[in-house]
Amino acid sequence: MKHFFFTIALVAAFVAARGQNKLVIHADQGQTTISKHNNGHFAEHLGHCIYGGFWVGEDSPIPNTRGIRNDVVAALKEISIPNLRWPGGCFADEYHWMDGIGPRADRPRMINTHWGGVVEDNSFGTHEFLDLCEQLGCEPYICGNVGSGSVEEMSKWVEYITFDGESPMANLRKQNGREKPWKVSFWGVGNENWGCGGNMTAAFYADLYRRYATYCRNYGENRLFKIAGGANSADYNWTETLMRDAGGQMQGLSLHHYTVPGSWGRKGSATNFNENEYLSTIEKTLVMNELLARHSNIMDRFDPQKRVALVPDEWGAWYDVEPGTNPGFLFQQNTLRDAIIAGTNLNIFNNHADRVRMANIAQTINVLQAVLLTKDEKIVRTPTYWVFWLYKAHHDATLLPTALTANRVAQAAPAQANLPFRRESRGIDAINASASRDASGKIHVTLVNVDPKNEQSIEIEPRGTTVKRVSGHALVSSAITDHNTFDAPDRVAVKPFNGARLAKGVVTVKLPACSVVLLEIE
Ligand code: AHR
Repeated sequence: MKHFFFTIALVAAFVAARGQNKLVIHADQGQTTISKHNNGHFAEHLGHCIYGGFWVGEDSPIPNTRGIRNDVVAALKEISIPNLRWPGGCFADEYHWMDGIGPRADRPRMINTHWGGVVEDNSFGTHEFLDLCEQLGCEPYICGNVGSGSVEEMSKWVEYITFDGESPMANLRKQNGREKPWKVSFWGVGNENWGCGGNMTAAFYADLYRRYATYCRNYGENRLFKIAGGANSADYNWTETLMRDAGGQMQGLSLHHYTVPGSWGRKGSATNFNENEYLSTIEKTLVMNELLARHSNIMDRFDPQKRVALVPDEWGAWYDVEPGTNPGFLFQQNTLRDAIIAGTNLNIFNNHADRVRMANIAQTINVLQAVLLTKDEKIVRTPTYWVFWLYKAHHDATLLPTALTANRVAQAAPAQANLPFRRESRGIDAINASASRDASGKIHVTLVNVDPKNEQSIEIEPRGTTVKRVSGHALVSSAITDHNTFDAPDRVAVKPFNGARLAKGVVTVKLPACSVVLLEIE
C-alpha cells in the first residue's frame, strides 16, 4: 500500500510543467572570455586510446604520418581540438618518461598494471606525443608523475622538453633528433593523488605539490601553467586545503567528476537503457553545475581575483564496458544520451567561464565518452564528437549573460527491475543553454533539449542588439539510444537546422526532443 502511494506521488510529480520556455540574452554585455581550452581532450595509455587509436606505427597499412593516424588527425582538426592531456590519468603516476625516448627498438617493454595488464612497449613517448600535438595544431597538456616518480625526474622532463641551450637534458633531446625545444605550457603535477596517484591526504599532497612545482622551471620564454591534482567530485576539503596551502604556487587546480548512471559496481549499459535511466543520468550530470559553484566559492575565498583556474580535466559518462571487451580497456559505445551529456556539461563550463578556463573530456578515442572510435582502418565520429563540432563556435568568444526559464521534466515511476537506477528525482529543466559573442560580433547560442519525448519551443530575446538573421545546426535522431557504428557511421550527425523563426526581434525555436542545437544570430 505504501509503495502504491509512493508510486502515485511520483507519477503526479512527473507530469512535466509545460509553459513557455524563454531565454533572455544580454547581447550588449559580457566581459568574460570562454577559453577554447574548455573543449579540451584527454588521451591515456589505456585500452586502444593511444595504441590503435592515435598510434599505429610507421609500418602500418593504415595511412599515417610518422606513425600517427591521418584520419584521426583530420577528424580532430575539424573540431579545432585546443589541447590534449597525456599520458594519464592513473597511468601518469606510474609513467617514467625516460622509458619513452630514444630508438624505439631499445625502449623497455613493461606491463600496464593499471589498465588491463597488457604489454606497454613505450613506442609512443614524449617525441611522438609532441609530434601528435604539432600535427593537430593543439597545445600539449602533460601530466607528470608524483605518485611513483621523483622531483628530479619531473624536473628533468621539463628541462628535456623546453630548455633551449646547453644542458644535459637538452643535449639528450638533440641526440634523439629534436634540436629546438617544444613550447609546453600546461603541466599537471600528478593525477588523482587522493587515489591511484598515491592515496595521499590533501595536506600531504599540498606539501608535495609545492616541492615538485618548485623544480618545474620556466626556461627561456616558456611559461608553465602548473595544474595541481584536484578533488574527486564533492571533496570540498581537498580544494580548501590545496588552496590554503599551495594556492599561491599554482595556475590551475583540477577536478574530476564522472557521470555514472547506476553504481560503480553496476554502472549501466551504454546503449541499452530506458527513459528513466536516461533522465536519471542527465540529472546526475547536472551535478557538475553545483560542483563548479561550490569549488569556485571555496577558491574565491583564497583567490578573489580568480587567478587560479578550476580545471575539470576528467569528465564524461562512465558505463559498463561493451560486452565481450577487456574490462580494463573501458571501451563503451556512445549514443544520443552522450551528446546530451556533452552539450550540458559544455554549457555549464561556458557559464562558469570566469573560473573554469580548461576542461578535458575522458577520453578522446575508444575509451569512456570517446569522440572517436576506431577499428583497424575504420573510424566513427560519435554523437559526442558532433557536440564538440557545434561548440567550437564558442572558442575564445565573450560569454553573454543569459536568463533562462524552462519547463521541467522528470522520470516516470522507476520500474522495480531497475533498482540501481532508481533515485528520488526532483525533475530537471528541459533546456539548458549558453551564449557568446565572437570577434566578428555574431552571437552563438547552444541549446540542449534534454526532454526525451517532447519537442520544446523556446522564445529567445536578444536584448541590446538588432537581429537580422538566424541560422543553425542541430544534432537530432529518432531514439535516445541511437548511435554510430562501423557499419553505419553517419546515423547520428549534425545537420543544418531550420526550426528557428525571427519575428519582431524575438527568435522562436522548436527544439526537437533530445537534441543539441547551435544558433548563429546576426
Ligand atoms: O579516465 C580513466 C581514469 O579515471 C583515469 O586514469 C583516472 O584519473 C580516473 O580515475
